[in-house]
Amino acid sequence: MECGANHQVQSNHQNRRRRNHQQGAPESFGIASSNRARVDAALKTLPADAEGHAVDLASETAIAALFAGLGGFDHLVYTAGENLQLANLDKLDMDWARGFFGVRYWGAFAAVKHAAPHIRPGGSITLTSGLAATRPHAGWSVASSICGAMEGLTRALAVELAPIRVNIVSPGVVKSPLWDAMPVAEREALYAGMADKLLLRHVGEPHELAESYLYLMKQTYGTGQVIGVDGGGALV
Ligand SMILES: NC(=O)c1ccc[n+]([C@@H]2O[C@H](COP(=O)([O-])OP(=O)(O)OC[C@H]3O[C@@H](n4cnc5c(N)ncnc54)[C@H](OP(=O)(O)O)[C@@H]3O)[C@@H](O)[C@H]2O)c1
Repeated sequence: MECGANHQVQSNHQNRRRRNHQQGAPESFGIASSNRARVDAALKTLPADAEGHAVDLASETAIAALFAGLGGFDHLVYTAGENLQLANLDKLDMDWARGFFGVRYWGAFAAVKHAAPHIRPGGSITLTSGLAATRPHAGWSVASSICGAMEGLTRALAVELAPIRVNIVSPGVVKSPLWDAMPVAEREALYAGMADKLLLRHVGEPHELAESYLYLMKQTYGTGQVIGVDGGGALV
């Protein structure tokens, strides 16, 4: 989860603020995930004024405390989710299936609930779905349900929270740590097979997805929209 927050920039970063503002980029930002060490590692790759928060996004109490402490900001981006797990119906445990909605769906829901009052005029919320909403495979019933629910939620929030813009990015396969639970050889075979099939002949890189989130923060006339970024995966 990332928050673009103008107010947190300190005075010795005024020049970068001005430059970023001219380029339409957020002037400063904060990130949150559940693991302090990973937050700290990510901060090392970000500008010095970026803020990092270790927050369990499965906990509404923790989410409420995070946003109460942040104050006003402009853009909320929600991408959190545990490593992907898939199961066919006959092997699927119902408690696990319900629980898998915890971070991806209910965490996003709670983040929007507690963030929205702090979002400044002109601000936006960008959520995350996935190609599985419309192109599921066997074993994807839970993941596909979450993606579909997220897209419906986005449209409902766009209506309820207007004029805050609420949109959602729907990625196809992207080379991110999401796939880390898969053995390396299996993962590389998956990427190679995908690259062969996709219209754009490569599996997505995180920076290619980041462009879509940035676009949805910067644009000013789209709300309730699903932006597919999948190498053409929806068409093959
Ligand atoms: N990568 C793909 O191929 C792909 C395709 C379609 C859709 N998506 C969707 O895109 C979204 C982002 O995926 P990604 O590829 O960026 O995955 P990722 O690299 O695994 O990132 C997910 C992030 O969620 C955080 N997280 C997990 N549980 C958390 C919790 N309880 N509280 C706070 N943070 C938590 C993780 O950090 P910590 O472990 O530090 O908490 C991690 O930084 C997910 O919803 C995913 O389903 C991804």
